[in-house]
Amino acid sequence: MEQKQHYLWWQSGIIYQIYPRSFQDADGDGVGDLKGIIQRLDYLKWMGITAIWVSPIYPSPMADFGYDISDYCGIHPLFGQMEDFDALLKEVHQRDMKLILDLVPNHTSNQHPWFLESRSSRDNPKRDWYLWHDAKEDGAEPNNWLSVFGGSAWEWDQQTEQYYYHAFLKEQPDLNWRNPEVQRAMFDVMRFWLDKGVDGFRVDVMWHMLKDEELRDNPTNPDYEASKSTYDQLIPAYSTDQPGIHDLVAKMRQVMDEYDERVMIGEIYLPIHRLVTYYGQDNKGAHLPFNFMLVTLDWNARTIRSHIDEYEGALPAGGWPNWVIGNHDQPRITSRVGNAQAKVAAMLLLTLRGTPTLYYGDELGMRDVPIPPDEVQDPQGLNMPDKDLSRDPARTPMQWSPAKNAGFTDGKPWLRLPDNYKRINVEVQQADNYSMLHFYRRLIKLRQSEAALSIGDYAPVLTNGPILTYTRKAEGSTFLILLNLSHKPCIFRAQTETYRGKIIIATDPEREEKTVSGNIALYGDEGLLIALDNA
Ligand code: GLC
Repeated sequence: MEQKQHYLWWQSGIIYQIYPRSFQDADGDGVGDLKGIIQRLDYLKWMGITAIWVSPIYPSPMADFGYDISDYCGIHPLFGQMEDFDALLKEVHQRDMKLILDLVPNHTSNQHPWFLESRSSRDNPKRDWYLWHDAKEDGAEPNNWLSVFGGSAWEWDQQTEQYYYHAFLKEQPDLNWRNPEVQRAMFDVMRFWLDKGVDGFRVDVMWHMLKDEELRDNPTNPDYEASKSTYDQLIPAYSTDQPGIHDLVAKMRQVMDEYDERVMIGEIYLPIHRLVTYYGQDNKGAHLPFNFMLVTLDWNARTIRSHIDEYEGALPAGGWPNWVIGNHDQPRITSRVGNAQAKVAAMLLLTLRGTPTLYYGDELGMRDVPIPPDEVQDPQGLNMPDKDLSRDPARTPMQWSPAKNAGFTDGKPWLRLPDNYKRINVEVQQADNYSMLHFYRRLIKLRQSEAALSIGDYAPVLTNGPILTYTRKAEGSTFLILLNLSHKPCIFRAQTETYRGKIIIATDPEREEKTVSGNIALYGDEGLLIALDNA
């Protein structure tokens, strides 16, 4: 008899990203905090979320809003105390949910004691914990590598007369992961949180962790366009995705495997064929190398269809897929594809095979909020002001209610709210069965109750035009998903077989419960989830 496969929580579940500065402020300082998150757990549970990933909450000078960490095993007072964290973990677990933390191993803050020691003298025992190099003979940087946040990736240290490497801000020096002491120190950090009972990590910029030892120059990018980040002038061939990275990731995984059922998610922006290598040999690398295709691809059926199929085909045997619709670094889905199409995107995310990760507020259709120049806070925006790269617009406070500041804070919110928050918020949408929030919730609940949708097989269905079509199937049930990625009406003409079934969820609920068969007409921006008769 065939062995029934056992699915783990991070395979069948749904992950929700909380950007803690912007979720819920409990103490009135205008910045979200851990107590605030606790207050809102029932909402997440109501929605059907099974795991929460919280962006960094550690002590940090906040040069990059928490991604510059000065103590890996503490809590920033802005967010609370360690006892608040312990309470959060307990409350999450009491609701039968999981808590995933952000691990930022590539770089520390320049205020981290490790770096303060490292920069204190050339013969300090921690000198080799970071990437220090001599200037070229003419005093120039060791090579041409660029910082993701603009300018050179090398910073000159006057006192010890060497350069150090920083892939991001100069306040975020990169650790030297070839040094076993660094590895041990970070593995201990992981154990510190895993011992507390944290259910996993989202590992920041995993593909950056090793760099070419010979420091070879990166080649210029022939496709560079001036509107893009200055970082894109070069192809980061020698500063990212280096040989040896998979051994390192496998070592991190071994630490995870000292514990039961923890998850390691890798933040990796690479093409599919490189991305899937991060599952590691025999799937002993990252459990989920984040798949950002829905965030980065042009929004048209042909492109997305071919990438879904390429991804499905490229996954290693036993490698579990995943999909992301947005995060704190990218424009929000509603701002990329429009309000109506955002519902189609939600249906796509929640019906594809693989763990979905949602970004807070997307379930309301929150839009990017234009931030006036004198209020911009994100260093990426400030460093390249003419390029429109600020991430602030996608990081604005969660819109809870029509009350002052959308119920986010009694104080002055750290980023402004949009004018429409009185209409677009949780309270209003909870009372409206036609809202985006209810649409998300119904998709989530259906996914959680139907094996076909959560763990079932995926098969593309051949069609032409602007529709994305596929089935999800498990024993006893098959769903057909039809998504019109354009604003115009179109007809689904199945090319190989006739489908008959009942619409279970539709972007326009009026279509639900109707029986369809043969050619199926779709409105613009319409998505249909159909339970097939001949399952
Ligand atoms: C990751 C984070 C981003 C941060 C960067 C540097 O890409 O998601 O927010 O700025 O790493 O840590």
